[in-house]
Amino acid sequence: WSASTASAVQPRIKSFQIYRWDPDRAGDKPRMQTYEIDLNTCGPMVLDALIKIKNKMDSTLTFRRSCREGICGSCAMNINGGNTLACLNKIDTNTSKVSKIYPLPHMYVVKDLDMSNFYAQYKSIEPYLKKKDESRQGQQQYLQSVEDRQKLVDVSECECECESECESVRE
Ligand SMILES: *[C@@H]1O[C@H](CO)[C@@H](O)[C@H](O)[C@H]1NC(C)=O
Ligand code: FES
Repeated sequence: WSASTASAVQPRIKSFQIYRWDPDRAGDKPRMQTYEIDLNTCGPMVLDALIKIKNKMDSTLTFRRSCREGICGSCAMNINGGNTLACLNKIDTNTSKVSKIYPLPHMYVVKDLDMSNFYAQYKSIEPYLKKKDESRQGQQQYLQSVEDRQKLVDVSECECECESECESVRE
């Protein structure tokens, strides 16, 4: 073992500027906060960097994530000017560039990168099927006809929470 072995790997320090704002804290204003991370000790995706910041540097940083594989949409945010999913967005490994992370535009900010107010909105629109005939409730299954299933094709494809920025929904 020699000291040179340990120092052989140069740190790759990358700066992240992250939008911070707690609307519930009196007097708090939106601002950008800078965090520096050694990419050698961080996973490849922007979500890995956010998790590292939250776990090791600043537990007050707030964001949402769930599936970590691009399905749920809860990690949707604006990264370096593009609306995308943090769990699928690779960190730009050029350490002379600062990565800038904001909440999605046009969304209600709960705190920092958390826009989870959509759960309340979701609840308010009652986005589930309702039966016209409830006479068999608790007695017998309600089978779906092929025709009825067909009516759901377009509306059931989306599982995510990032519809406001979704290209599929806009088209
Ligand atoms: C890294 O970014 C800097 C600043 O934008 C640029 O000048 C440089 O060419 C980039 N390096 C690589 C390896 O892309
Ligand atoms: S955590 Fe990124 S889409 Fe689910």
